[in-house]
Amino acid sequence: MEPRRPSESTSALTRWMGIEDANTAGYVHGGVIMRLCDEVAGIAAIRHCGMRVVTAGMDRMTFLDPVHIGQLVTVRATVNAAWRTSMEVGVRVESEHVRTREIAHTSTAYLTMVALDENGRPTRVPPLAPETAEEHHREQEAQLRRNNRLAEREAILHGRGVRP
Ligand SMILES: CC(C)(COP(=O)(O)OP(=O)(O)OC[C@H]1O[C@@H](n2cnc3c(N)ncnc32)[C@H](O)[C@@H]1OP(=O)(O)O)[C@@H](O)C(=O)NCCC(=O)NCCS
Repeated sequence: MEPRRPSESTSALTRWMGIEDANTAGYVHGGVIMRLCDEVAGIAAIRHCGMRVVTAGMDRMTFLDPVHIGQLVTVRATVNAAWRTSMEVGVRVESEHVRTREIAHTSTAYLTMVALDENGRPTRVPPLAPETAEEHHREQEAQLRRNNRLAEREAILHGRGVRP
């Protein structure tokens, strides 16, 4: 399989937040932002592997600042790392005040997407070919998150007396 550069699958979506996106406090509901993250991560992953993908997990989702109704939200996704059948996609969320043009970084999320074949089974994905120093750095950090995830899973199974 031909390696693919992160820049070949980088994806972005912009949405205008309306009343239907509000929580009871009057800000944008966190679930709306999570859904957008999942959507854009899926697009980046599909562009990387050229196959159907499913979300296997969301490793982390930070909410640094509330998003207000009437603001634009832009979600940008990049494939940080690709393993056998799974990929880590990093998503950066920014809000934009349309009149002042003030932009704020409001969330970061890391999602694991798995490629599926026509029978719905996990299938191999192309390797990632990071080019820039930042892309190499992101790949190393993704590997660290994966190692931690697998170590945690093993420790929990061990604690329950289950063999992984
Ligand atoms: C994700 C899924 C396909 C994995 O199936 P599985 O039988 O566990 O397959 P495998 O054990 O072969 O694992 C496949 C890959 O998924 C990864 N994976 C499985 N569970 C994971 C989890 N909870 N978090 C992160 N990665 C996970 C494995 O590490 C493996 O990656 P690798 O091949 O790159 O090493 C399956 O659990 C599934 O279909 N889940 C439901 C997905 C879904 O409905 N998502 C929401 C809607 S899109």
